[in-house]
Amino acid sequence: MRIDNKLQDLKNEFDVSSEKIVEIAKLFKKAMEDGLGGFESPLKMLPSFIGSPSGNECGVFYTVDMGGTNVRSTKFELKNGSFENLGEVKSKLKDAEGKYDYTSGDTTGEELFDFFAELISKLISPNETGYLGHTFSFPSRQAGINEAFLIEWTKEIKVSGVVGNNPNYLLSEALKRRNIMVTPRAIINDTVGTLLVAAYMYKDAHVGTIMGTGHNTCYLEAKHPINGCEMIVNMETGNFNIGLPITKYDLTIDANSATPGAQILEKMISGYYIGDIVTLIIKDFYENAALFSDCSSSMELLSKNKIDSLTVENFILYPDRTIQSINCKKEDALILKEISEAVVRRASRLAAATYIGTLLHIDAGEIRNNHVIAVDGTIYEKMPRVPELLDEAFLEALKEKSKLISVKLVKDGSGLGAAIAAAVAVKLYPK
Ligand code: BGC
Repeated sequence: MRIDNKLQDLKNEFDVSSEKIVEIAKLFKKAMEDGLGGFESPLKMLPSFIGSPSGNECGVFYTVDMGGTNVRSTKFELKNGSFENLGEVKSKLKDAEGKYDYTSGDTTGEELFDFFAELISKLISPNETGYLGHTFSFPSRQAGINEAFLIEWTKEIKVSGVVGNNPNYLLSEALKRRNIMVTPRAIINDTVGTLLVAAYMYKDAHVGTIMGTGHNTCYLEAKHPINGCEMIVNMETGNFNIGLPITKYDLTIDANSATPGAQILEKMISGYYIGDIVTLIIKDFYENAALFSDCSSSMELLSKNKIDSLTVENFILYPDRTIQSINCKKEDALILKEISEAVVRRASRLAAATYIGTLLHIDAGEIRNNHVIAVDGTIYEKMPRVPELLDEAFLEALKEKSKLISVKLVKDGSGLGAAIAAAVAVKLYPK
């Protein structure tokens, strides 16, 4: 009885009602407009200096793409709307055996970008020259398509000497040190890359979003205050913090993070933190005798490995494996599944609220046009039921109008999008 109550209380606490979704959507729209107008807002509304691509971009381009977990370099050929991957190298930012860690505060910017240059060197033959597009998935204030200044690290990265600097400058210096004749020509956020690629595929692609290690959304602003023209805006929605249903677990995660007070929405949605939320809930249940009451070794076994988003996925999909791996009872495995589902459901409904807010802004207060939301990232792609949970949230909040919204998985936008951005930049600003 007591266990049931604890679980029900948790589900209630993690529920985001349809009324709350609408309320958050409206607050989000207001924050967008405040940010765009230069007023104080948790949304940074960063200009990207790029609009929709023409679809006719051509040429061979190198890309480098740093996310929260991996860095990848690719050589793409763009041919009037189609593309070919001519080669790719990828590496983890942090070696599983602890041999290196390019995310830690002991790494310098110079070391990080030397590591990128080394990857790029594996794709390029001696004496070859080329242009590069860089996807840098951290809040950066852009001054132009090839110039961005890192505002702050997110996703718990702490490398020194990069905040305040232009990653493309640091990268070009690293390339020069290795005599690699590749010139960076564009720098974009991964959400922007996703939207650029989606624009090739769907005429109504207006929003690009990542639900992965990190969380963020961009959209196409029809008339940007900077140039009066179409421009993609990187909102840095992970930093949204108004009207959110914050729990004691969220407060603990925030307090223990590298960025207390910042990236509040990201800490409720993204893959980096989802496992930590589930961990805190499990500990709370255990301490209150609502979990593993007959088998204390299960808690010990569970604590041996970090609970990450993949563990959460497994709790939901395979309770039988949970029973085996931590030697617990079926009831316990089912509680872990329900805790995980509640956390994932909340994440999906909060993301949906921000997408609705974005579309309310695009359509000036009432959703009336068709919109494609292009999404990439493991939480959307792999976490059970996230696509349905988003659709459910749209339907509950918007009823009939929800039919105007379609969410499409656009994979690998962050790589290919950087090549498209470099092609656009080279055409706009030939040297
Ligand atoms: C970063 C964003 C990025 C997102 C997804 C966040 O932590 O601040 O710039 O788009 O992660 O990678």
